Amino acid sequence: MTPNILKKLHITGNNNKSNTTSTNQQPYQSENMEYQPIQGQGQPQYQQPQPQHVQQQLNVPQQQQPGGYGVAQVQQHGISRETSPNFAANAETQTQQIQTPHQSQPQTIQQPITIEQSLLPQKSTVSKGKYTLNDFQIMRTLGTGSFGRVHLVRSVHNGRYYAIKVLKKAQIIRMKQIEHTNDERRMLKVVEHPFLIRMWGTFQDARNLFMVMDYIEGGELFSLLRKSQRFPNPVAKFYAAEVTLAVEYLHAHNIIYRDLKPENILLDRNGHVKITDFGFAKEVSTVTWTLCGTPDYIAPEVITTKPYNKSVDWWSLGILIFEMLAGYTPFYDSTPMKTYQKILAGKVHFPSFFHQDAVDLLSRLITADLTRRLGNLHNGPSDIRNHPWFAEVIWEKLLAKDIETPYEPPITGGIGDTSLFDHYPEEQLDYGAGGEDPYAQYFVDF
Ligand SMILES: Nc1ncnc2c1ncn2[C@@H]1O[C@H](COP(=O)(O)OP(=O)(O)O)[C@@H](O)[C@H]1O
Ligand SMILES: [Mg+2]
Repeated sequence: MTPNILKKLHITGNNNKSNTTSTNQQPYQSENMEYQPIQGQGQPQYQQPQPQHVQQQLNVPQQQQPGGYGVAQVQQHGISRETSPNFAANAETQTQQIQTPHQSQPQTIQQPITIEQSLLPQKSTVSKGKYTLNDFQIMRTLGTGSFGRVHLVRSVHNGRYYAIKVLKKAQIIRMKQIEHTNDERRMLKVVEHPFLIRMWGTFQDARNLFMVMDYIEGGELFSLLRKSQRFPNPVAKFYAAEVTLAVEYLHAHNIIYRDLKPENILLDRNGHVKITDFGFAKEVSTVTWTLCGTPDYIAPEVITTKPYNKSVDWWSLGILIFEMLAGYTPFYDSTPMKTYQKILAGKVHFPSFFHQDAVDLLSRLITADLTRRLGNLHNGPSDIRNHPWFAEVIWEKLLAKDIETPYEPPITGGIGDTSLFDHYPEEQLDYGAGGEDPYAQYFVDF
């Protein structure tokens, strides 16, 4: 069956990230002014796992926890870990008692932030030590980042596939990202929204941190966009609308996301978005200062290191919509510095094929004037949802995933199909290392 999007989106088959322009960039951070291009666009080194119809064999329900279904887990982990004394013999019942201490950690931000009252759901944040490496078979790399890599894994208990993000402690320390990493874990553990990634738990060994998430099979929106060159107006609108609801949810819970871009937006097997990567997400009730994000997507007030608020995400939404419609970002240039200069100059050239409503919306999102930027005004995000460009979107139906997606990823669900992900050179893994952990005190929550 040929997905109809192949006609709609003019897929060319060219999906080479390294040929791309702007967003093929690592997040840029104030603490480390170095900019490094993404690594590892090498030849495929991975053999596709043999499809096995695990779901059928085991007859487990959808959305199963990796730890199984009340069946006692195997406790044979030879990993020396100082921080998970409470390994759960029964993953589903022994989850409520462990308190996660929030001890003081070195600050990487420039100013303290006052959080008056947390709006986050009062869910249990207990999930540390619930899983170990022995609960998973580690498979191929799905993505690489500044601090480690994300693997496809398979639960040895229920046979289902998950993604594990692995972060190297030494790298986190070197790049002064302790606080961001602990925030990432904390935010991921509590958010609950149809268009946001779900994390099941975390654990660590002497060298690495591990975050267990659902595996989102449809690949990055980035890959689809590069294959398609650009999206037709209604397709861009669909993805933008789902992203808008997710960002609105985060903001309603006082979370700024700060890294919106197509690489962090995954598509599930039906083609709905799942935002992943909470590496820069932060619970902030008023303003914050840290310079972080990805150059093409950073708002001008972040570059000038003024205090900024949630509306930096609405700026990024504007850049995202522009990139989906045009196939390139509005301030693209050969170096981050030149991009910043363009962002500060603030001149956006809208291609003539942009719909008039899109131009109107984008000129109200990609504006340095915070008294004009939609999402930041009296009515908040409803100004964005009620904008004429989104006129035909029925938001309640969209939230309920009751609107047909424009593109159904051509994959077989549930069998660990990774055909929509790029290939990365695999490396010797040091996971499970025991021994000295000089950084143990920084990651007590994992
Ligand atoms: N849950 C997931 N399912 C499938 N792929 C994922 C998942 N999480 C991350 N990835 C892939 O790994 C890449 C890197 O993960 P990300 O969390 O964005 O790390 P980084 O902070 O290094 O950018 C993503 O761009 C995506 O391709
Ligand atoms: Mg990312």
